[in-house]
Amino acid sequence: MDNLLEGCQVISQDWKYLYLNDAAIEQARQPREDLLGKTMWDAYPGIQDTEMFAQLERVMADEEPVRILNEFTYPDGTVGWFELRAQPVPDGILIFSQDATSTQLAQQQVRMQLKRLHTLRQIDLAITSGVDLSVVSDIVLDHAIKGLDVDAGTILLLDPYSLKLKVAAFRGFNGNDINAVVNKLGDGLSGRVALEQKTIMVKDLDSDQRFTRRNLIGREGFQSYFGAPLMAKGQVLGVLELFHRTPLEHDLGWLEFFEIVAGQVAIAISHIDTFGSLQRVNLELMLAYDRTIEGWAKTLEVRDIETEGHSQRVTELTDSLASALNYSTGDLMNMRRGAMLHDIGKLGIPDTILLKPDSLSDTEWDQMRRHPIIAHELLSRIDFLKPALDIPHYHHERWDGTGYPLGLQKELIPRSARIFAIVDVWDALRSNRPYRPAWSDEKARQHLQAGSETHFDPEILDVFLKEVL
Ligand code: C2E
Ligand code: SIN
Ligand code: SIN
Ligand code: SIN
Ligand code: FE
Ligand code: FE
Repeated sequence: MDNLLEGCQVISQDWKYLYLNDAAIEQARQPREDLLGKTMWDAYPGIQDTEMFAQLERVMADEEPVRILNEFTYPDGTVGWFELRAQPVPDGILIFSQDATSTQLAQQQVRMQLKRLHTLRQIDLAITSGVDLSVVSDIVLDHAIKGLDVDAGTILLLDPYSLKLKVAAFRGFNGNDINAVVNKLGDGLSGRVALEQKTIMVKDLDSDQRFTRRNLIGREGFQSYFGAPLMAKGQVLGVLELFHRTPLEHDLGWLEFFEIVAGQVAIAISHIDTFGSLQRVNLELMLAYDRTIEGWAKTLEVRDIETEGHSQRVTELTDSLASALNYSTGDLMNMRRGAMLHDIGKLGIPDTILLKPDSLSDTEWDQMRRHPIIAHELLSRIDFLKPALDIPHYHHERWDGTGYPLGLQKELIPRSARIFAIVDVWDALRSNRPYRPAWSDEKARQHLQAGSETHFDPEILDVFLKEVL
C-alpha cells in the first residue's frame, strides 16, 4: 500500500490513525507523526459533527463499505474534494481516497455555463416575443440579474434629443425613487459609460466621486457597480447597470458574459425601437450562443484533456464531411454544436485517468466509457442543444455494434454520430496524447481504412478519404 497512487489509511476501532501511506499524507497536508496514534478528532477538531464522520461510524458499526464524496476545508481555508471508499477490516476501517478537486471545480464551471446559456435563451425568448419596450426591458433585466448573480440593476435609455439617460427598467431596489433619476450624458457613472462607450466597474462606490446618486449607497446599501454601454450599429442607446450590496467576486468569464448580455439587451431595444429585421437579430443571437459554446469547449483544452484546437478542427472537418454529404444548413448548425461539445463529458472523469501516460485498466475504462452519458446528462437540460445531442451521445458507437454507451449497430447509430466518429478518430490519431505521440498522416489513413465496416460506416468513410482529406 505504501506505493499506491491512491491515498490509503487505516483507522483503529477507537478512531486512531494506525497507518497512512504517502499519498494520504500528501492529501492531508500534515506530517505523518502529527497523525499516527492520534484520534481523528485530535487531528481535526469538530470532525465528529460532519456527515462524513457519521458515514464512517456506520462503516464501523454495520461493517458495510461506503463511498463518500467529501468536501474538505484545509486549515488555510482552501477547499478540496475527495472521493473516499471506506470498508471495515479487522483492525477498524480501511479508507482509500482520491483527490477529486479538479473534477469538482470543472463541474461547478459547467453548472455556471449552463446557467449562462439559460439566461441567453430567456433573453432571446423575451426579445422575439415582445412588442412593448417596457415589458421586454423588465423581463430582460430580470434574467440578466439572475444570470449574473447580482442584487439589482437598471436599464437606462438615452433620449437622443435631450441627451439624458432615463430609467426604462429597474429591479432589486428597496425604494422606487430610482425611477425619477436622470443623468445627463457625461455626468455621473452612467453618463460616462454612455459617453465613453466602455464598461466601468467600481469596487467601492462610496469612495468614487464620479458616482452622483449617493442616496443609493445609504438607503440601498450598494457597494459595487458595473455599467456597460448598450450599443447597436455603432450608436449608444443607453446603459445596463448592475449593483451589488457586497464586493462582487468576478472573473474574466463573468465580465465577458456581462458584455454579451449587454449586447443582447441592446439588440432587444434596437429591435423594438426601429422594428429592425428579425433576421439580423437572430444572426447576432446565434453568434452569442456559439461564443458561449466555444468558451465551454475550451475548458477541456485548459485542463489539457484535449490538444490545442481539437474541438475547432473536428468542428470544421465535420462541417466539410457533412457538406460533402449534402446536409442542410440547419443540420450543419446542430452538428457543429455537437462536434464542438463532443467530449464535454470528459469533464466528469478524474485527471488521474485522462492524463494517464499509460493504457487504462478495466475499471478506468468503465469510468472513461461514461463520458458520452455524462455529456448527454449535461446537455439535455438545454432545449436549444437537444438537436445537437447525437454527436456527444453516440460518437463512440461502432458500425459493428461493439462501441459504447449502447452498442448500437449500423444505421441504428444516428448518421451525424457516424460522420463525426471518423473525424474524431482522425484528429485524435494525428494529435499527441499523454499515452502516445501523434501518428503520421499515412498511418492514420491506413488505420481508418482498416476500420471500414468494423468501426466506421464504409460509405461515409469513402467520402471522407476521397473527397475531404
Ligand atoms: P481520444 O484520445 O480523443 O480518442 C478518441 C478515439 O480515437 C478513441 O476512442 C479511439 O477510437 C481513437 N484513438 C485515439 N487514439 C488511438 C490510438 O492510439 N490507437 C487506436 N487504435 N485508436 C485511437 P476510445 O478508444 O473509445 O477512447 C476514448 C477516450 O479514452 C480517448 O479519447 C482518450 O481520452 C481515452 N483513452 C483511450 N485510450 C487510452 C489510453 O491508452 N490511455 C489513456 N490515458 N487514455 C486513453
Ligand atoms: C481499448 O482498449 O478498448 C481501445 C484502446 C484504443 O483504441 O486506444
Ligand atoms: C439521416 O440521414 O440523418 C438519418 C438516416 C440514416 O440513418 O442514415
Ligand atoms: C442529423 O440529423 O444528422 C443532424 C443533426 C444531429 O443529429 O446532430
Ligand atoms: Fe469521446
Ligand atoms: Fe475528440
